[in-house]
Amino acid sequence: MTASRISRRTALQITASGLAAAPWWRPALGAQGEPLPERAIGRPFPQGASLPEEPPAKPGGESVGVAIIGLGGYALGQMMPAFSTAKNIHIAGLVSGNQEKAQRVARAYGVPEDAIYGYDNFADIASDDRIEAVYIILPSGLHADWAEKAFAAGKHVLCEKPMALNSAECERMIAAGRRADRKLMIGYRCHFEPYNLRAMGLMREDVLGRLRTIRTAHTYRLGPTTPAENWRVNRALAGGGPLEDYGIYGLQAALYLSGEMPEAISAINDTPPNDPRFSQIFAHTASQLRFPSGAVAQLSTSYDAASENRVSVRGELGTLVMDPATSYRGNVMTLDTEEGSETLEPGDSTVQFSRQLEHFAQAIRQGTDVKTPGEMGLRDVRLMEAIYRSAAEGRTVRLAPDGTMRG
Ligand SMILES: NC(=O)c1ccc[n+]([C@@H]2O[C@H](COP(=O)([O-])OP(=O)(O)OC[C@H]3O[C@@H](n4cnc5c(N)ncnc54)[C@H](OP(=O)(O)O)[C@@H]3O)[C@@H](O)[C@H]2O)c1
Repeated sequence: MTASRISRRTALQITASGLAAAPWWRPALGAQGEPLPERAIGRPFPQGASLPEEPPAKPGGESVGVAIIGLGGYALGQMMPAFSTAKNIHIAGLVSGNQEKAQRVARAYGVPEDAIYGYDNFADIASDDRIEAVYIILPSGLHADWAEKAFAAGKHVLCEKPMALNSAECERMIAAGRRADRKLMIGYRCHFEPYNLRAMGLMREDVLGRLRTIRTAHTYRLGPTTPAENWRVNRALAGGGPLEDYGIYGLQAALYLSGEMPEAISAINDTPPNDPRFSQIFAHTASQLRFPSGAVAQLSTSYDAASENRVSVRGELGTLVMDPATSYRGNVMTLDTEEGSETLEPGDSTVQFSRQLEHFAQAIRQGTDVKTPGEMGLRDVRLMEAIYRSAAEGRTVRLAPDGTMRG
């Protein structure tokens, strides 16, 4: 399916009557019997998530108190457990649209009942001194509004990737953070993950010689679903599709391994017809980047291909392969140079979660810059806009050094 065809169909479906614009299939209704709205709502306890048997130890006096906004799969499955091994930061509040779930989670994590907020009374958090910062783990289309609300309440903001769905939203978030004089950090966990950090170091040391190519693949297969029940296939909440959610890891890797910004991008999207998963989003996005040094990157991402999580970098003198490259755990890295082949084991990948949290808290306490600021999130969203523009117009898009399109 061509880019213009999906955008016509999407435009038809995102009319005032929304999904009622008669697609060939009847959308299955969400858990609450209605299509997912473009605003914060409560959802059921995520499948497969578990809660700690014991609440964490009481925090020390200098520890930064954080309220988690959105108790979904990533919050309960990965990030909240990581607070227990982070030294200077603790969970001090919860913000959720599902009060029953929030109470259960609060009991397990030792969060006081009066530190549970809903989406409707969030503004009250402003006067809660136990909470210095929030961690936004909501569907991506809600990040900008909730970052603005959190800054208006005087809190620092850690926000999940992608920062937002377009560059205007990112700019609004950065401006709100500056006005409030509060930190804004994006949850780019790979900047705290030992394998990716080692790969960045090896590239800075030029162990591969002059960089020639980078290839990244971030793919998996979504089970049967619809935009009415899953925000990841709902354009208003997810954007164009797998690129914002998963392909962003390949885009990030291409930038932090090359150390460059692309000067030109060409891309293509595709979507199988008549598939409820892809009535609003693309199934696959493939893009090519050319860097000022002459190196090129090829990035592919898909929600409809067998799982792959791989980054391969080729210089004139060797190859660095990471497979898996950006996983939660168990990353693997092989370096091939004229001196031979070596499997590198720079550390336990799972420390990335707690190190990300510790870095955020340290920046708040010490007034230092964060490694993954809003400006980095904005840069990446601009590049994703260029990828979609190139695919929609069938041409190579040229870029300024800050990632804005030259036309
Ligand atoms: N860095 C990473 O490795 C990583 C991995 C996965 C996800 N993420 C990011 O984390 C964010 C959340 O992803 P997730 O996988 O945790 O999603 P999820 O499991 O679907 O959870 C999202 C939560 O957001 C809340 N929510 C509020 N309004 C909603 C709406 N209209 N539709 C659906 N949920 C709504 C709900 O929490 P309540 O019921 O408590 O209100 C829901 O449980 C996304 O930005 C995603 O890109 C990052």
